[in-house]
Amino acid sequence: MSSTDGDALVRAEAVGVRFGSSDVFRGVELHVAAGSRVALTGRSGSGKTTLLLVLAGLLAPTTGRVSWPGLAPDPRRRRAQIGMVFQAPSLMPELSALENVTLPLRLRGIGAAEARASASAALVAMGVADAADALPAQLSGGQQQRVAIARALAGNHRLVLADEPTGALDRAHAHQAALALRDGVAATGGALVIATHDPELAAMLDHQLVVTPEGHLSRAGTR
Ligand SMILES: Nc1ncnc2c1ncn2[C@@H]1O[C@H](COP(=O)(O)OP(=O)(O)OP(=O)(O)O)[C@@H](O)[C@H]1O
Ligand SMILES: [Mg+2]
Repeated sequence: MSSTDGDALVRAEAVGVRFGSSDVFRGVELHVAAGSRVALTGRSGSGKTTLLLVLAGLLAPTTGRVSWPGLAPDPRRRRAQIGMVFQAPSLMPELSALENVTLPLRLRGIGAAEARASASAALVAMGVADAADALPAQLSGGQQQRVAIARALAGNHRLVLADEPTGALDRAHAHQAALALRDGVAATGGALVIATHDPELAAMLDHQLVVTPEGHLSRAGTR
């Protein structure tokens, strides 16, 4: 199934992942076009995180094929075009919130002043500007999650893959984070794929796909 028409930033064709002797899913067909916003839902353990890792190119599928027709052919360059918000905390513990958001930009060759400005703006958009100088351990789980989202937003990625980005947030902050992600990615013409258990967040996106135990994606509804 296609989530949208048009040139795919990422395309999964008959993709399956097997760990040991058990299939997580099989036969996944997914096209994510520039500008599209897709929610992946499904019960815990259905394979949402696994599928995001495949779409990021961080996990090779056991069967089928994943390709990125709308991204750079070179894997290193392509990797820089993909932003991830991981389900588990992923901030570097010895760096401040601002440094965590700035570092990936600097590693991509962006100058110090520009990187700092983009990072600060993303922290403001996520409502954690006051936490800029704090270390992750000094922040609440929800604040850390918002810094991780800011890091993905600041990169102006073509494709942002976010795994339960609002799981640790209260309703108001979850809504703010979802809006910032949705609109931040749209502003750069990129695409957004969010794995979420939150029906309110899923409903804010254009397409909802369910990762089923049988291994197929089905459309839960579109707006
Ligand atoms: N590296 C791994 N080795 C073996 N099994 C794994 C591995 N990663 C995931 N699994 C298994 O694959 C299945 C899918 O896991 P995954 O984390 O993708 O689910 P999920 O839909 O993201 O769940 P949740 O909603 O709880 O985050 C689970 O049964 C899990 O135990
Ligand atoms: Mg998961």
